[in-house]
Amino acid sequence: MAAAAPDAHAGRLIVALDTTDLRRAEALAASVGPSCGLLKLGLEFFLAHGAAGVRAIRRRPVFLDLKLHDIPNTVAGAVRAVLPLAPRMLTVHAAGGGAMMEAARRAMETAGDGRPLLLAVTVLTSLDAASLHAVGVAGGPTQQVLRLGRLAIESGADGLVCSPREIAVLRAALGSRPALVAPGIRPQGAGPDDQARTMTPAEAVAAGADWIVVGRPITAHADPGGAAASIVRSLA
Ligand code: C5P
Repeated sequence: MAAAAPDAHAGRLIVALDTTDLRRAEALAASVGPSCGLLKLGLEFFLAHGAAGVRAIRRRPVFLDLKLHDIPNTVAGAVRAVLPLAPRMLTVHAAGGGAMMEAARRAMETAGDGRPLLLAVTVLTSLDAASLHAVGVAGGPTQQVLRLGRLAIESGADGLVCSPREIAVLRAALGSRPALVAPGIRPQGAGPDDQARTMTPAEAVAAGADWIVVGRPITAHADPGGAAASIVRSLA
């Protein structure tokens, strides 16, 4: 059985440990662990420390955010390669197409009942309408998220990574079943950094996010554990 959506507020928080420093990642994991449901390890950490690094952090359930995007055979092989790490969630780019996502899903199923959730990244939360236009996407982010979100769910994804601003539209189109994971989260008063489509944690959860992903507002804070706990309190 795939991982179920958490119901406690702390379970909704995913903390992104974007660092190449293993000790720092371990220290962050220890301090934010009590306030979050999953720890997210992405390309920065994985390219520096690989499978051994993931195993070192696995004191909490791990979301492996590798955003795979390649031909179907290569993505299927990459999925099989990371299944022994038993992540709870794994990402592919929906823009890789239906055949790629179907291949990822088939590869995922070789893990049996404990398989990770297959999440498809729709449109990066750092992209706005102008940057999408520059790469040839004429419609705005919402239209593109909807198009890719539909394709991803039809192709076997369990859920989507989207900005909180698109959740209402996705829920209206796809119903309550797909897991929706929202990065681009900024607590009140925090700067956007490189994120373009943001909401506060409470707004994102109110909009229907199953999980919110927060990185720098927690990891760059002088007290990461306190920052994570404060975000969880804001969800109550
Ligand atoms: O530091 P910040 O809160 O902006 O981190 C957001 C995290 O979510 C990063 O690890 C980034 O890779 C990830 N992410 C994102 N937008 C997506 C998918 C994932 O920001 N569409």
